Amino acid sequence: MAQTQVGIVGAGPAGLMLSHLLHLQGIDSVIVETRSREAIEATIRAGVLEQPTVDLMVETGMGERLKREGFEHHGFELRVDGHGHRIDLSGLTGGKHVTVYAQHEVLKDLIAGRLAAGGKIEFEVKNTSVHDVTERPVIRYADRSGNPQELRCDFLAGCDGSYGVCRQAIPESLRREYLRIYPFGWFGILAKAPPSNDELIYARHERGFALISTRSHTVQRMYFQCDPADRVDNWSDDRIWTELQARVTGDGFRLKEGEIFQKNIVPMRSFVCEPMQHGNLFIAGDAAHTVPPTGAKGLNLAVADVVVLSRALVDHYKGNQDDGLTNYSVMASRRVWRAQHFSWWFTSMMHRFDGVSEFDARRQRAELDMILQSRTAAQVLAENYVGLPMQ
Ligand code: DHB
Repeated sequence: MAQTQVGIVGAGPAGLMLSHLLHLQGIDSVIVETRSREAIEATIRAGVLEQPTVDLMVETGMGERLKREGFEHHGFELRVDGHGHRIDLSGLTGGKHVTVYAQHEVLKDLIAGRLAAGGKIEFEVKNTSVHDVTERPVIRYADRSGNPQELRCDFLAGCDGSYGVCRQAIPESLRREYLRIYPFGWFGILAKAPPSNDELIYARHERGFALISTRSHTVQRMYFQCDPADRVDNWSDDRIWTELQARVTGDGFRLKEGEIFQKNIVPMRSFVCEPMQHGNLFIAGDAAHTVPPTGAKGLNLAVADVVVLSRALVDHYKGNQDDGLTNYSVMASRRVWRAQHFSWWFTSMMHRFDGVSEFDARRQRAELDMILQSRTAAQVLAENYVGLPMQ
């Protein structure tokens, strides 16, 4: 039977970053992943990296292309009913910023880095299952040729996303799951057009939320709040541009339009599973939690989880110290709940909620006014948006 120190299920941000951090400390790992490398590298997700995520990529030798091709953003615009207000991220946080660099670009860099360093990633595996997690865990799977394989490991890292198998290996009687579903989704597009603004725009409008983001000088990413049960086929390019323009136009500002070459609908939910561990199984990233996309915390949170986990594993192997492993869930979940609150708050403040009372509608508007009028309130938004320091 094949063996490794840390068996990792899932080659997303959590699994790849964990494998990389362990490698730098001389700890061996193997990643098994159901998707192909090509599919992973082509999947469109969010695009904002917190300052601590960028710092980690750079400090661990994965930041070269990110530094060259990512866009540093020192602020963003909150647009309310067509009027823009700048949130000066750097001014409010003592000089911090975020970097716009798409998640699949991060994954390309991490995959290339792991493979160049001799890292083992088994792509396109099937029928993954995990066993004996309270003793010496085993991962069973069929490799890409269909041959059954077994991998025995000291520790198992479940980085296999919201629908993976690892979370299910925590007995239901010990698992606590917290879920909130939002009554709206995001309609996302990629368009061939120049940027409409130097910075991202988060827009609150009577018709609903809109987000104007970017991927490059020629490709723009935009989203607008929609019915989660809606279908992309219901939306012609014309209808999409009309809706987006209606939500952001004002003060002489209009979006630059172009050919739309990708459309998708993203559901919105908040989810946490605790504890994030059982025996020698540790879950990280979307396997343990989901945030609604407003503020783009998902990838950043996955990375923060595995920073905590990698330190705990290093303490185990190098320092004969297991406190970090024992306390992994407690340590990681502090940041998880901070990000849960932030993502829920930013979502709640910016979206249209149908059917709420007039009181709630006015209260929501007052909350947004507080951000626009109080430097202290704007600071709370900015501090969370750029990313709190990793502990
Ligand atoms: C993007 C996504 C987000 O959820 C966000 O808050 C900002 C940007 C994006 O895909 O570019």
